[in-house]
Amino acid sequence: MRNFTYSIPTTIYFGKDKLEEIIPEVKRYGKRVLITYGGGSIKRIGLYDKLTALFKQNDIFYVELGGIQPNPRVSSVREGIALCREHKVDFILAVGGGSVIDASKAIAAGVTYDGDVWDFMIGKATVKDPLPLGSVLTLAATGSEMNGSAVISNEETQDKRPMGDPALRPVFSVLDPVYTYSVNKWHTAAGTTDIMSHIFEAYYTVDKDVEVADYMAEALLKVCIKYGPIAVEEPENYEARANLMWAGTLAINGLISYGKAGGDWATHMIEHEVSAIYDLTHGAGLAILFPVWMEYVLDERNSWRFAQMARNVWGVSEIDDMKAARLGIAEIRKFFSSLGMPATLKDVNIDGQHIPVMAKKATIFGALGNIKKLQQADVEEILRRAL
Ligand code: NZQ
Ligand code: ZN
Repeated sequence: MRNFTYSIPTTIYFGKDKLEEIIPEVKRYGKRVLITYGGGSIKRIGLYDKLTALFKQNDIFYVELGGIQPNPRVSSVREGIALCREHKVDFILAVGGGSVIDASKAIAAGVTYDGDVWDFMIGKATVKDPLPLGSVLTLAATGSEMNGSAVISNEETQDKRPMGDPALRPVFSVLDPVYTYSVNKWHTAAGTTDIMSHIFEAYYTVDKDVEVADYMAEALLKVCIKYGPIAVEEPENYEARANLMWAGTLAINGLISYGKAGGDWATHMIEHEVSAIYDLTHGAGLAILFPVWMEYVLDERNSWRFAQMARNVWGVSEIDDMKAARLGIAEIRKFFSSLGMPATLKDVNIDGQHIPVMAKKATIFGALGNIKKLQQADVEEILRRAL
């Protein structure tokens, strides 16, 4: 096991009726708040009314930025930065899914930076003294509620790029599973796929003897396999929503990566290129690409790790590692399909036209991945096999 420093400072308020907890938290960090949200789901579920009533009762000044789209656009981020400056905002409250929280992180970083916020996405700027932010999560998927990452799309250049800094972790997040009851089947399935994909990314490393991390990862996968289908079929099943929500947070807050060299993340980087051009739901892209990536990188040196997951998570009893690994990948593909996720790019009407440009952009900052380094030609081949 490698050295590490454990630090996950976000305070989590988990469970029913936790919204009021945010008032002392907000007051601790700021006096003037930007509330951010998406296309209107928070209004439909009554969360917007509850929240704004609480703010009014407690005399907290707020301005709003709504309309943040899935695959959040840098134009929304720029709008948020301008609002913060105009109204001298000192705290951001993101209310929504990963897209809203990610856009809010970029706003938080951009307000205190003199240049254009896209600079963070292309490595031209580093985050310094961002505004503090908190979140009220409404969709179990990205884990953005407890990590320092954000992924932003540039509609002009069709780029989708990550940024990250520990200072961008929300200072608190409210996780009330009831707010996720209204998430439709598609986004529930895509969220479950995304959570599982974060676990895969952390799990597939070159390190051995990292069993604390491995077993925790396997347990979280089992939670997704049990509760993902229940949440899709019974949207108001509290235990299913609650287990998925907490698994989603723990999957990518750093916990299952401690003691390792870092995860792989090639599949995520490839998927970002697909959703950058086609505006595809992130989890749906991952459902298509992950099994293909697994088959592509599987070899004699790493088959033990694929076999370990196949046996411990998917109940494969085959004793030959390579065969067990393949059986495990087949189970993963089957599971994603059972959730209603697509299996090929063609299933979501994507043809091979932009594959060369996606492969080029994915590797623009160098080879991808950890368990196997992927060059442009490898990425191109993975995308072709995903057609
Ligand atoms: O916009 P509204 O009206 O809120 O509707 C959203 C949106 O249409 C809807 N939704 C959210 N909560 C709802 C709800 N509908 C009904 N009831 C609710 N309670 O769901 C749709 C998708 O929302 P979005 O926020 O886009 O989903 P998700 O949380 O999956 O976020 C995806 C984005 O996060 C990035 C992805 O690339 C993508 O851009 N990621 C961020 C990561 C991070 N920060 O660490 C890591 C991930 O790997 C990922 O890349
Ligand atoms: Zn993801």
